[in-house]
Amino acid sequence: MKKNFWLEYWSDKTSGMHRSSSEDFLQKEAREKLFHLAGGKSLLDFGCGSADLLVYYALEYEVCVGADSSQAMIDKAKERLRLHQLEDRVSLSRNDDVHIWDYLEKEEGGNCRFERISAGQVIQYLDKKQVEHFISNALEHLTEEGKICLFDVVNERLYPLWHAGLFNYSDSVVSVVFRLLKQRLSVFKNHLLRRPVYDDGYLYTPVFFIELAKKYKLDVEFANSMYYEYRYHVFFTRSTAK
Ligand SMILES: C[S@@+](CC[C@H](N)C(=O)[O-])C[C@H]1O[C@@H](n2cnc3c(N)ncnc32)[C@H](O)[C@@H]1O
Repeated sequence: MKKNFWLEYWSDKTSGMHRSSSEDFLQKEAREKLFHLAGGKSLLDFGCGSADLLVYYALEYEVCVGADSSQAMIDKAKERLRLHQLEDRVSLSRNDDVHIWDYLEKEEGGNCRFERISAGQVIQYLDKKQVEHFISNALEHLTEEGKICLFDVVNERLYPLWHAGLFNYSDSVVSVVFRLLKQRLSVFKNHLLRRPVYDDGYLYTPVFFIELAKKYKLDVEFANSMYYEYRYHVFFTRSTAK
């Protein structure tokens, strides 16, 4: 697969493509995430997109930085923040998972550390190496008591079932099984052609994050997403075990 496939994919998009783009739904999603963020005064929202949720986070944080690799998304985010009269409360930066850390050092002040670092519906666009790199860098920019929230990771076991229609209760079990078989063939073909195996990026099981937690001496917790049957959240804090 081309190295920058997902960066290119997002470069001309202007919407975070939530299940619904109604303000009511976005507000509900933000409330769920704010519950898990559980306070803190400073937030880095990595992969903030068009600020669909960031406008709600911004109301709760004294310091708020939004970063995204896509200029089109950052432009939309600016527009949305302006619309909500929040442009002065959020600093936006066009940077990807590699360059954001240097940006923070240079532009936001050398020792800048956040109490919360979030990434919502973003981890699926990073491969395992990139996720590990993200966590190790995030830890250097996290306060001692801070929390990293990886929201809406795509579940490797549930996503194929969701994709085949398991949660669409008007579909018969036979048609779900048929679609699942068809999907397996397409996954195999994409794999051979070195194309992205799934339309929604990389899928992960909790085991991957448990291993990362062990390696970086972190505590890890999981919660299922309230609004997406095939997604879950991962929370890292520094380990309290002696
Ligand atoms: C599905 S959108 C989610 C946006 C936002 N977090 C939300 O919940 O509305 C995914 C975002 O991740 C960004 N993204 C993908 N890969 C990235 C990377 N390597 N570095 C920075 N941003 C990235 C995309 O540009 C896009 O805006």
